[in-house]
Amino acid sequence: MDVVQSLRLRGAFYYLIARSQFLNPSCRIFVVWITKMAQLTSGQQTLEKIVSLSKRRGFIFQSSEIYGGLNGCWDYGPLGVEMLRNVKEAWWRAMTYRSDIEGLDASILMHPKVWEASGHVQNFSDPMVDCKSCKSRFRVDHLFSEMSEKKLQAIGKHLGIDHREHTKDSLAEYLLMRVDQDDTLFPVLVEQELVICPNCGTKKSLTAPRNFNLMFETYIGPVKEAGNEVYLRPETAQGIFVNVLNVMQASRQKLPFGIAQIGKAFRNEINTKNFLFRTREFEQMEMQYFVKEGTDEQFYEEWRERRYNWWQSVGIPKERLHLKPHEKLAHYAKAAIDIEFEFPFGFGEIEGIHNRTNFDLSRHEEYSGKSLSIHDEETKEKKVPFVIETSAGASRGFMALLCNGYEEEKLENEVRTVLRLHPAIAPVKAAILPLVNKDGMPEIAEKLERDLRTSMKTFYDDSGAVGRRYRRQDEIGTPFGVTIDSDTLQDQTVTIRERDSMQQIRLPIDNVKGYLLERIGFPN
Ligand code: GAP
Repeated sequence: MDVVQSLRLRGAFYYLIARSQFLNPSCRIFVVWITKMAQLTSGQQTLEKIVSLSKRRGFIFQSSEIYGGLNGCWDYGPLGVEMLRNVKEAWWRAMTYRSDIEGLDASILMHPKVWEASGHVQNFSDPMVDCKSCKSRFRVDHLFSEMSEKKLQAIGKHLGIDHREHTKDSLAEYLLMRVDQDDTLFPVLVEQELVICPNCGTKKSLTAPRNFNLMFETYIGPVKEAGNEVYLRPETAQGIFVNVLNVMQASRQKLPFGIAQIGKAFRNEINTKNFLFRTREFEQMEMQYFVKEGTDEQFYEEWRERRYNWWQSVGIPKERLHLKPHEKLAHYAKAAIDIEFEFPFGFGEIEGIHNRTNFDLSRHEEYSGKSLSIHDEETKEKKVPFVIETSAGASRGFMALLCNGYEEEKLENEVRTVLRLHPAIAPVKAAILPLVNKDGMPEIAEKLERDLRTSMKTFYDDSGAVGRRYRRQDEIGTPFGVTIDSDTLQDQTVTIRERDSMQQIRLPIDNVKGYLLERIGFPN
């Protein structure tokens, strides 16, 4: 089923849902259920097509594939690495080409006390339960978030919660919070058969929740012994916090100012899933903005707006983005909101904006014994600044852009697969295509390609019919095709074909570089 078909099907089912108020309750439940199933199935099929295209065309390969792969780890192929660099470059320019934000590249391994101070040793864990029957392991938050609304309401009723005050998501979050607060509650829900194994359906088979720390541990030095443990960082943010005074002094910044960083992060996720969405190794693009207490709420709003707009500037339409405030806040946060993208499997977070207060810096002061307070010239006081964090996933954002761009477009006689990527994000900017391999066309095409190559990623293709060559480029998102034909020999003009509209214009060959450079630039 292509995307257009799946949208039509969705539309048809939404119509049915709208009409289903006139149906009896059991028919209505059936219509809602079948709609959900249809969405999931078509979404899953789309995702499978994207995964397959990614491998076939060299965007993404499974890590260590010849050994059967390593779960939760992926490799970026020739086109993937170009595209990922473009995503990161677009972010870097937007975040650091300004007077109030400096860049940083901190090491992945840090002093172990950093992670005690940050709270990760104690808190960065997921409560897990095991099924004694089928041996599957589940995160408790996933058990609730993937449960049907009816089951959630049944648990809510058991706990005396009025489900009319909650959406499905907020009820799932609320139940998780109750289970977090009360160790005895989950076993009671299992005993009452209100929670059963979602894999094998066995009743009373789930264990009590146990905390599982998500940080990868390794050892510094030749001896693997207690005291030598270090962690692979689970977020890049802490490298910024511990360097705040270094950066501030070196770059003569004053509050408010920010530090931005792109880098790898590692989490020993229990359930890796949905391609690049939840992996064990991934890249983050984080920025911490240091502000005076009292101005934090205003900067939080500003950064939420700016980041929401940035995703649109790189090609994601507003309709496929959601802003979802957190109901349950992390241990460090005063306010938090997720920017979510509509993946084929549903909405999922691509970036979090957090008001982290002065939690992190105060803790690092406490654990390091070094002051991280900043002198306020107005009040003549020294105070630990507040932090507004913007934390985006480069890998997850990459996947969002891939899913957003993917389309199977119905033409008169065929279906063309096209990746409608923003030209700045597209891995290849222009394909250079001599119409035939004779009459001097290849020589002109090669010369043009050599000239363009110094300023942008190009691809030279002289094999097969030109229509097929265009299709190969559409599939990898190349925004422009430049064709050298018999007219070029006469008047030194070429055809430029635009990927999305497929419209063609003619241009003097000497103007091609300027024309392309104007159109492939990063958004401001
Ligand atoms: N410093 C705050 C922080 O790390 P987070 O919400 O845990 O916050 C921020 O992560 C972003 O990192 C997410 O919005 C997501 O894009 C990305 N991310 C987190 N875990 C990930 C994973 N296992 N795989 C891929 N991306 C992940």
